[in-house]
Amino acid sequence: MAKSEAQKLKYKKHKRPHVLSVDIEHLGKKMEYKQPSDKIISEWDNYQKRYGWEDATDRIERMKIKEVVKQYWDTGQDVPGCVLLDVGCNDGYITRQIAEYCAKCIGVEPFVNLKDNKKPDNVKWYRGTFNDYTRISSTRFDVLLSLAVSIQLRDFGGLSEDQIAKAYWQLLSPGGIVIHETQKLANRPNNQEHTERMLEAFSKHFKIIEHGQARPSGGREYYHLLRYNNDN
Ligand SMILES: C[S@@+](CC[C@H](N)C(=O)[O-])C[C@H]1O[C@@H](n2cnc3c(N)ncnc32)[C@H](O)[C@@H]1O
Repeated sequence: MAKSEAQKLKYKKHKRPHVLSVDIEHLGKKMEYKQPSDKIISEWDNYQKRYGWEDATDRIERMKIKEVVKQYWDTGQDVPGCVLLDVGCNDGYITRQIAEYCAKCIGVEPFVNLKDNKKPDNVKWYRGTFNDYTRISSTRFDVLLSLAVSIQLRDFGGLSEDQIAKAYWQLLSPGGIVIHETQKLANRPNNQEHTERMLEAFSKHFKIIEHGQARPSGGREYYHLLRYNNDN
């Protein structure tokens, strides 16, 4: 049996901790959802298609995503493999490539039409916004991918940086990790300010355990953030 098949079987038998509640509306000031323009939606629709499949492979390597998810690989104890959430997964190029090393992956994407016939068995697409997903999710994740998406959650999803960080914390299992990639930072004061606010918000719930340069164009950075078990 292929290793991923064995992981899937183990996942089915293993009880995951459940999310008690992700109540982002009570996590600070409520902001308005803003509908993106058709032009913006079409730019998002083209995002991973434009960069291509190999670019996604390269990003997985640069941000050491495989190394993180493999920590949850079967160690011979009661560990069924990584359960991963990809927020704003776009065309799912990263979700689909990393799925081989995971027990289960969920990709949340409101605007790109993801085809079910183009995915591994252990991947599920949720068609909706992150806010919608938090209302229905009962799964807690080991790893949450927050790649070039947090400013969209703020500017269109209407969430503050504090609400985003807290919602991520609530969606993760104890010992869970957020892999966060910033937007382009070079000469972009708005993105720099948002990144600083995200880091400030993350510092209340997570510890930075890894930080490096992500895609070289535009001076993007990535962080691995380990969830504090006690919320503070
Ligand atoms: C810049 S792209 C990044 C895509 C992907 N995470 C990556 O890094 O390759 C931003 C993505 O966020 C999605 N998005 C926009 N608003 C969102 C929301 N409220 N909830 C979840 N995803 C959203 C867009 O459709 C788009 O796919």
